[in-house]
Formats: sequence, structure tokens, C-alpha cells
Amino acid sequence: MNIQEIIANKRDRKKLSEEEIQYFIQSYTKEEIADYQASALIMAIYINGMDEEEITNLTMAMAHSGDILDLSELGTVVDKHSTGGVGDKVTLILAPIISSLGIPVAKMSGRGLGYTGGTIDKLESIPGYKTNISIEQFKENVKKIGISLIGQTMNLAPADKKIYALRDSISATESIPLIASSIMSKKIAAGANKIVLDVTYGSGAFMKTKEDAQKLADTMQKIGEMSERETICILTSMEQPLGRNIGNILEVKEAVEFLRGKGERDVEEVILELGSYMIKLAGKGENLEENKQKIKETITNGKAYQKLKELVKKQGGDISYIENLEKFKIANYILPVIATKTGIITRLEAEHVGKISVELGAGRIKKEDKIDYSVGIVLEKKTGDYVTEGETIAYIHANEKEKGNEAVKKLQSAYEIK
Ligand code: URA
Repeated sequence: MNIQEIIANKRDRKKLSEEEIQYFIQSYTKEEIADYQASALIMAIYINGMDEEEITNLTMAMAHSGDILDLSELGTVVDKHSTGGVGDKVTLILAPIISSLGIPVAKMSGRGLGYTGGTIDKLESIPGYKTNISIEQFKENVKKIGISLIGQTMNLAPADKKIYALRDSISATESIPLIASSIMSKKIAAGANKIVLDVTYGSGAFMKTKEDAQKLADTMQKIGEMSERETICILTSMEQPLGRNIGNILEVKEAVEFLRGKGERDVEEVILELGSYMIKLAGKGENLEENKQKIKETITNGKAYQKLKELVKKQGGDISYIENLEKFKIANYILPVIATKTGIITRLEAEHVGKISVELGAGRIKKEDKIDYSVGIVLEKKTGDYVTEGETIAYIHANEKEKGNEAVKKLQSAYEIK
């Protein structure tokens, strides 16, 4: 078997056999296949797709490219994953909430992908926070404090780590086989037995329509069933960015504020919806409305906020930044974006906003790029808000003036005011 033949088969729309898929995943993980060859195959999959059997084989090969964790000694462990969004800081908020309710959370997250942000980049913007702890430490943390959030630096789904970074740099993100295998391989490897998936649709999501999001959800649910992980998918709209802040430090700050009881309405809706299902799946409450109340309580009584601090501390992070948000680095330039006319904001496309934040340095253009944690966007006004000409509708946080001015112009034209 050789990689050229496999690339040619997918290029010519042929179905790949289980052996071909395993060969590709194993050889690429061992670095016996070059990035340019893997890129060609990934792009052929992106363009020509895969059937259900191929997607399952790809997922299983990726999950088994490293260790598969067994967390059964910890009882019911829940995990949550989003298919991606702009301003999506849900994990930073929801994981401590669920853990504070006595449900163990063990989660392996990803980095930014395309114009969407990644939880790992956000966590790494907290000074000292280690996302690459050992498997033993990961388990130990879940056992001791009921929560651990890590990246893919351990030997868990290493194939996904490599393919994910490649997809990010070759514009091969919006694909059902590639997203389903990426997410489900991580979930299978990380060992949680109950999974809630937030499947996003709309401008800032990889699935632009609800129908495609449903197809992606069905594919992941089937893989979940097959691998004996009870999986629930919830479809959520990502037409405009979630919450106010986009960018790594900015999103950590918004997440902390949320846990201190100052949450944005749209973020709260997603938290309550996903969280109520996580509690149900964990067997801690059949009634979704009552579960939502439990979530509100654990925020109000400060337990969820304490759990976030416990998590950050346990993983080496400096909690004085969480306690005192002013300690975080602030970008060199904070530039206002001004409304060009009076009226109602009728559109603010999340994809557009996400791309502006990547150009500012909040995401990667090449896979080797370093993230600039302090840059991003703060939205003062969103769809449905009334604005008057000359009013500040957003702020650009930039470290380079030229990039900042460019971003101001782009964001101004991203707002549709009627
Ligand atoms: N999240 C992932 O882990 N992978 C994807 O492909 C998209 C979102």
C-alpha cells in the first residue's frame, strides 16, 4: 500500500477501504507520510466526502492512534464538545458548573480552527495553566477535584492533533467526515461515558444550515452509539458571535464574569440548554427545568466560580488573574468602532467577525503561528439593538496599530444597520 494510491482513489471519488484508512492514520501519526501528502488526501476527503462506513473507520483509526482512557473507576463521567463557533466560551463556563454539581467532568479540548476559537488556546492564555499534563495527572485531577480540562498533547488521539492543525492551515474545516471523526475520536479516546455535543449552525459555524448540522449530529450520534458512549446532540444557532467578547483573554474574562453572575443572555441560554442535558445524562436529574434551576443556583452561591479557580490552580494556573481580571495583559490599542448611521442592527455575521479576530492574531493562519492572547473584539451592540450614528458599537483590541485600523474598517462594514 502507498499513500499516492490512496490519494488517487479519493481524488477519483472511490471508497477507501478500512486498511487504506488505517494505513494513512498510522503512517501519518508516525510521521512516515509528509504533510503535503496528508494535505492532499484531507483535501480530497473534504471535496469528495466519505460514506458512513468510511467515517466510522476513520474515527476508530484516529481514536486508536494513541491510548484509549478507561475512566470507569470514576463512575459516570460526562464530556461536552462544540462543533465550533465565534465567541464560544461555553466550555470554560459549563465545565466548572457541572463539576460543582458533583458530576465529574473529564474533557479533552481543541485549539482554534479556521475562524472559530478553541478552548485550549483560551486556557493557555491564563498564565501557568498547563493543558499538557500526564494521563495519570488528568485522572488524578478528576478524582480529587472532579474536573480536568486538557489538550491533545498527551498520547490521546494524536492523529487528530496533527490532522486538526493541518485542516486549519489548508481551509479544510467545513466537512462532515472531518469534523465528526475529529470530535468523536477525541471523545472516544478521552474515556467519558456520556457526551453532550453542541452542534452549531449559521454564519459562524462550520455547518451553515440547520439541515447540515442535523446530518453532522446524526453521524456523531451513530458513532457514539457504536462505541457505547451515550451521546446527545443539541443544535444551537451561531448566526452572530456568542456573548460580547471574541479573543482568548477577552473570552476568559467574559467566562469569569459569567460565573460571578454577570452573564450575557445568549450565553446563558446555551449554558442552561446544554447543562440541563449534561445533568440528565449523568443521572442526576430527569427534569430539564429543575436542572436549569440547579445551574442558576450553583452560579448564585459561588460554587461554580470556586470550581473554576480550583481547576485553574490544580493545573498550574495563577488564580490571582482569575480573582483580579485587571492583571491580564491588555492590548496596546483599544480602538472604537463607530456606527455609520442610525437604525436597528439587522445583521452581524459571526464568520466575518471570527475572521477579523484571526487577522488580529487571536487565531492561526499557519499552523506554526503563535497566538496573540490579548487581541480581539468586544461587541457593545449586536443584532436587534438600536444604535445612533456616531455611537460606539464595538472595540478592537490590537497590538499593531495598522492591523487595528484595518480591523475597525472591516468590523464597521460587518454591521448591517437598517
Ligand atoms: N471541534 C473539533 O474538535 N474538531 C472539528 O473538526 C471541529 C470542531
